[in-house]
Amino acid sequence: MRLWTLIALVGHLLIACNALPAGADSFDLGFEHTRNYEKIGCNTYHYLLSKPSGTPKGTVVLLHGFPDLSFGWRYQIPYLTSIGYQVVAPDMLGYGRTNAPLSLRKYSLRSMSDDLVELIQRVAPNEQVILGGHDWGGAMVYRVALWHPDVFKGIFSVCTPYFPPVTEYVDLEDQIEAGITPTFGYQLQLRKPSTDLRLRGATKIRQMLTALYGGRTPDGEMGFDSYTGLIWDNLPDLGPSPLVPGQLMDYYVSEYLKNTVRGPLNWYRTAKINFYEELPLTQPGKSNFTMPGLYIGATQDTALPPEMSVGMEEYFEQGLTRGEVVSSHWALWQAAQNVSQIIGDWASTLP
Ligand SMILES: *[C@@H]1O[C@H](CO)[C@@H](O)[C@H](O)[C@H]1NC(C)=O
Ligand SMILES: *[C@@H]1O[C@H](CO)[C@@H](O)[C@H](O)[C@H]1NC(C)=O
Repeated sequence: MRLWTLIALVGHLLIACNALPAGADSFDLGFEHTRNYEKIGCNTYHYLLSKPSGTPKGTVVLLHGFPDLSFGWRYQIPYLTSIGYQVVAPDMLGYGRTNAPLSLRKYSLRSMSDDLVELIQRVAPNEQVILGGHDWGGAMVYRVALWHPDVFKGIFSVCTPYFPPVTEYVDLEDQIEAGITPTFGYQLQLRKPSTDLRLRGATKIRQMLTALYGGRTPDGEMGFDSYTGLIWDNLPDLGPSPLVPGQLMDYYVSEYLKNTVRGPLNWYRTAKINFYEELPLTQPGKSNFTMPGLYIGATQDTALPPEMSVGMEEYFEQGLTRGEVVSSHWALWQAAQNVSQIIGDWASTLP
């Protein structure tokens, strides 16, 4: 075989392996944006950038969680631009159009915090920005703000309360057994390497997303619960997600196929790495925040019930504002308008 034939064949295979469902690349996100890429170290981050009309009054950076994408902020982005902010929403490491490195260490909150700050400094140089997150994105918000306090004028989290760095490592399995965080049981399943293999291909990815986005079987059973995780036997029988209908789901599936679930699930596998890297943050005063905070609890979130946030005030020297919405974990969508408004009202109080 001639070399060029071989190259053409390999190229063809690569394209075929990455083939997207028809139309996925022309999917209309529903708001003005540009897609951008920044190479940071060995990683390439993809982010959505949306601008207000006129000079922005500031920049809001939005971090999504699992299993989500930058697109998860689809209702908040146009709201924030309408009130004058420029918005940056990256696909987090391992997700969508950002790459998914093999090394687990790259998925530590410290390592991803450093990446994020470099990204922010390229997009909004010499500016103090507002940083917000949901789910894992929320967990990351707190870490980035501890490591790089000067970059942020305010931080907020939807659903995820602040868990300060600790001085003693307790494995999740022991925490659950001790009854400390029983609603994190699903994480034991998600962190297992074998879970990646069980979620290969478009059909499985669609089932996983449908389960996590509230799809039910004809008998009304769920495909996921916070104590045990995905309920494998129910997955094939789930009806459509009430929160992420048809074309939106196709878009999610096609974006998840780019990296598979290995990258996203790696976030559940770095607890020990995070523990060691964060030991310096357990020094007196290092786990307090120097900028104002906002916590929005979702009353029906089973994995992260708002009760988990009791006492967070203690760490916010500049004050913590609280908001609450009547919603499941998917508050960004289910309580979209209220979440946007609470963020906007709070942001307007920042200097
Ligand atoms: C952390 O902040 C609280 C105020 O919210 C304060 O009482 C406490 O002393 C701070 N801790 C340290 C170590 O600075
Ligand atoms: C949104 O806010 C309004 C006004 O405060 C409240 O009546 C309504 O219940 C809220 N909805 C949700 C989903 O939280």
